[in-house]
Amino acid sequence: MATAALQFRVATPEDAAIIQPLVQSAYRGESSRQGWTTEADLLTGDRIDVQGITEKITKPNSAVLMATDARGVLVGCCEVLKLNSDVAYFGMFAVDPRRQAGGLGRQVLAHAEDYCRKQWGIKKMEMSVIWTRKELIAWYMRRGYKKTGEERPFPHHELPEGAALQEDLHFEVLEKELGVHTGTVQMPERVLEQAVAVAA
Ligand SMILES: CC(C)(COP(=O)(O)OP(=O)(O)OC[C@H]1O[C@@H](n2cnc3c(N)ncnc32)[C@H](O)[C@@H]1OP(=O)(O)O)[C@@H](O)C(=O)NCCC(=O)NCCS
Repeated sequence: MATAALQFRVATPEDAAIIQPLVQSAYRGESSRQGWTTEADLLTGDRIDVQGITEKITKPNSAVLMATDARGVLVGCCEVLKLNSDVAYFGMFAVDPRRQAGGLGRQVLAHAEDYCRKQWGIKKMEMSVIWTRKELIAWYMRRGYKKTGEERPFPHHELPEGAALQEDLHFEVLEKELGVHTGTVQMPERVLEQAVAVAA
């Protein structure tokens, strides 16, 4: 399938109201089942509300990145958060469930990595994924992410109107060293240097 080129921009508080339904439709409820990976069988309720998204947009060292198609329609988003001088966190990653499996998610992730590297000089990206979501973890691993072995508790207190449909939901932490290459296939700097040396 041909992959549509996306336009990216950093969200402003006025964008929170259009980002929230995109995130909700991708993560939870019946609409999310149109996609290939979803939390619909794990959690009910809102993934996040408009106020929560506004906080991510306005927080220091944080950005919500928006991806729009050629017609200007919002098709994907994510949040990035600078944790320290070397590491950023990647989350709230969503692609419209009707548009998934066409390479858009891959572009959004690559853009987020580039953004963190260029904006903050980040060397490592980290994320946390609910451990049962094996197909999603496999997808991240194909993008160069590795399991760190760290587990984090699931924030049940952030589900005021929702519920966990399965016991023992916790996160697995994944991370990736960000290389110098800015395309979708990224190599650690050391490997790239070796490749250049061999080619010379
Ligand atoms: C995760 C997400 C953002 C990916 O977006 P996307 O546009 O579908 O991503 P891409 O099109 O770039 O990649 C699709 C991948 O799914 C794979 N895929 C398609 N159908 C699949 C299936 N039934 N089972 C497993 N993998 C499948 C494709 O092979 C492709 O992987 P590859 O590029 O390594 O071959 C999107 O699925 C989403 O919004 N999910 C719901 C929200 C979510 O779970 N976010 C992440 C939380 S940590």
